[in-house]
Amino acid sequence: MSPAVAVRDLVKDYSAVRAVDGVSFEVERGEVFALLGPNGAGKSTIVEILEGHRTRTAGTALVLDTDPSSAGASFRDRIGIVLQSSGIDPELTAREAIDYYGAAYSRRVPTGELIELVELDEKADARISTLSGGQQRRIDMALGLVGDPDVVFLDEPTTGFDPAARRRGWELVERLASEQRAVLLTTHYLDEAEHLADRVAVLAKGRIVAEGTPAELRARAGSALIRFAVPDRAEPVSDLLAPVSGLIVGRGRHVEITTDTPTADLAQITGWAAERGFELEGLTVTTPSLEDVYLSLVADDGGDEAGALDDGDSRT
Ligand SMILES: Nc1ncnc2c1ncn2[C@@H]1O[C@H](COP(=O)(O)OP(=O)(O)OP(=O)(O)O)[C@@H](O)[C@H]1O
Ligand SMILES: [Mg+2]
Repeated sequence: MSPAVAVRDLVKDYSAVRAVDGVSFEVERGEVFALLGPNGAGKSTIVEILEGHRTRTAGTALVLDTDPSSAGASFRDRIGIVLQSSGIDPELTAREAIDYYGAAYSRRVPTGELIELVELDEKADARISTLSGGQQRRIDMALGLVGDPDVVFLDEPTTGFDPAARRRGWELVERLASEQRAVLLTTHYLDEAEHLADRVAVLAKGRIVAEGTPAELRARAGSALIRFAVPDRAEPVSDLLAPVSGLIVGRGRHVEITTDTPTADLAQITGWAAERGFELEGLTVTTPSLEDVYLSLVADDGGDEAGALDDGDSRT
């Protein structure tokens, strides 16, 4: 069977801005695929091209073997969408909104079932304008699922959810995948990606800079992450860092080294500090999380967070 979503060499220009710059990936049925990346990386643009809400500039995009840019009602009947910002009429109630949007679908999930699913029973008959941000987001989730879709696009679905609601949202997404639906998710929560995604792609400036399972991406960062801050009065740290084997990222006085040889690197670093009588503030050795890997990937690519050491901001 062909993948539920197949994207090849996708390009999107907004006049002078190249928002998507040659992106390829596939999502299988039963799989949760997460697109990660900084603000403006191109995630929503890709998702909206796949939903048929935007046209592409070049490349191919197939969802359920259909080109979304020219697809008709039968295509829309089989996909579910949670947009990053929804445009539901705030004067409707949750129940009315689900009835209204649900009417378009042939395979309709009953309204009561959806309201229960997103835990809005008490608010089902309140106007959407009177609901909290997280409650409104749950309605968006319900509307994405009202047509019993084969492919679900979730653009930052849990933004605004309290921690307990986020966990229940994750269970819902897991259930969608276990029912053999394909799920394309974007998120800024790395723990969410780690928990939910079978595979993730990290997008920076319209290009995929890394792709794999969360475990594969974590492994790319080496087996350990050493963190510390260099004292203000320390001389430039080039002589310290030169023999260190791992990937070094600096943020002001703060140094992070991802390495497969933490023992040797730590000996080098602590030897250097001990010789000079320095304490290295916040010295820790940990296993890198997906968030650590993500931050080093987007820092390499010129993300907002990247700082610079005296002797260069990063190297391998
Ligand atoms: N309608 C538009 N017209 C012009 N430029 C646009 C338009 N929509 C998006 N862009 C630009 O395209 C780039 C990608 O935007 P996009 O919304 O896809 O990013 P994103 O990864 O979803 O970001 P976020 O995490 O903030 O949601 C940005 O530089 C943005 O300014
Ligand atoms: Mg977006």
